[in-house]
Amino acid sequence: MNDIDSELVRRVVVRFRESFPGEAPRVAVAPGRVNLIGEHTDYNDGFVLPMAIARHAMVAFRPRADGVLRAHSIAYGETKEAAAGSLAAPGGHDWFAYVAGVVWAFASEGLPVGGLDVVLDGDVPIGAGLSSSAALEMATARALCAAAGVPWDAVRMAKLGQTAENRYVGMNCGIMDQFASAACEAGSALLLDCRSLETRAVPVPPGVAVVVMDTGARRTLAASAYNERRASCERVVAEIARANPAVQALRDVSASDLEAAKAGLDETDVKRASHVVAEIARPAALAAALAEGDLVKAGRLMKDSHVSLRDLYEVSCEELDLVTSLARRQPSCYGARMTGAGFGGCAIALVDASDVDAFCEEVLFGYKATFDLPAALYPCRPVAGAHLLE
Ligand code: GLA
Repeated sequence: MNDIDSELVRRVVVRFRESFPGEAPRVAVAPGRVNLIGEHTDYNDGFVLPMAIARHAMVAFRPRADGVLRAHSIAYGETKEAAAGSLAAPGGHDWFAYVAGVVWAFASEGLPVGGLDVVLDGDVPIGAGLSSSAALEMATARALCAAAGVPWDAVRMAKLGQTAENRYVGMNCGIMDQFASAACEAGSALLLDCRSLETRAVPVPPGVAVVVMDTGARRTLAASAYNERRASCERVVAEIARANPAVQALRDVSASDLEAAKAGLDETDVKRASHVVAEIARPAALAAALAEGDLVKAGRLMKDSHVSLRDLYEVSCEELDLVTSLARRQPSCYGARMTGAGFGGCAIALVDASDVDAFCEEVLFGYKATFDLPAALYPCRPVAGAHLLE
């Protein structure tokens, strides 16, 4: 409970009782995330290393007997409703679609969905690349499981959330964000194999802080650029698979395979794929560096990842490049990189825990001298995935 803002919990319960008088609601919460390394690798069957952070989506809920899904969003000041059993994909992109999409995905899998009153709130900033949508999906899934008496299965629910987002909302994301929000453990990042969905908890060493550096820049063309990157990866796989049908994803491609296939491929596609092929190896390398306490090596891996995302995958932007280079100039910083899809949003830095306040102040000061944006820097700790508040 310490990780959850109790004022927010109070607010969501009070609003629920005002909006939907009757019995007290229960509350489901699910966290946002940062990804320590392994960017744009999840949809290539690769590895990622996300960590859930103490920013949560909250869903106050109470079952209804009549099959109606009624939802109120505190952030948007709106109430919407639909018949829970007759939702159809695609269902739009607004806040309600993330809730309705999970209900739709439950029903499509044959899981029981009854009616539900819900009030949504949370403190994951929207559009900052900290996975506010995955958090909302997983908090909704947690609420639906509790309401219908379905046992919580984090892996199944992460997949179901991804299906909701891919098919109901129409955003072609990988599995990382929903998985992190559903399955992370307190104190650790999660090394996830996006092919087998096997995981290993990777403790974040004491004495080191992960600092979120929100650039305040919000990009609107991110979805189409994301889909273009995915298409590049798929074209490279299709070409290499013509000679070697065992190749199903960039996970199965080595740097020398890529080099050998280069002549038959578009130059930009090769750049994109070379980022992914190298990045797929970085999560395990960073996990090992953290386990050994080799923070210098950890920092180097983070820098390599950022440079590759900037120059090869081309998903960084001036704001992310500036904030990460300001961070690296601080003596207490081991490394920094953009996190999430890119094109704005957040970067992260690995910082000596004893110097976090000075670090945040210095970097913010330098950043504000160039960009007049609502930037924010704050340390975060690894928290647990989706759960119910008792
Ligand atoms: C977004 C997507 C994830 C992942 C990252 C990039 O956060 O939702 O599935 O692809 O971008 O690593």
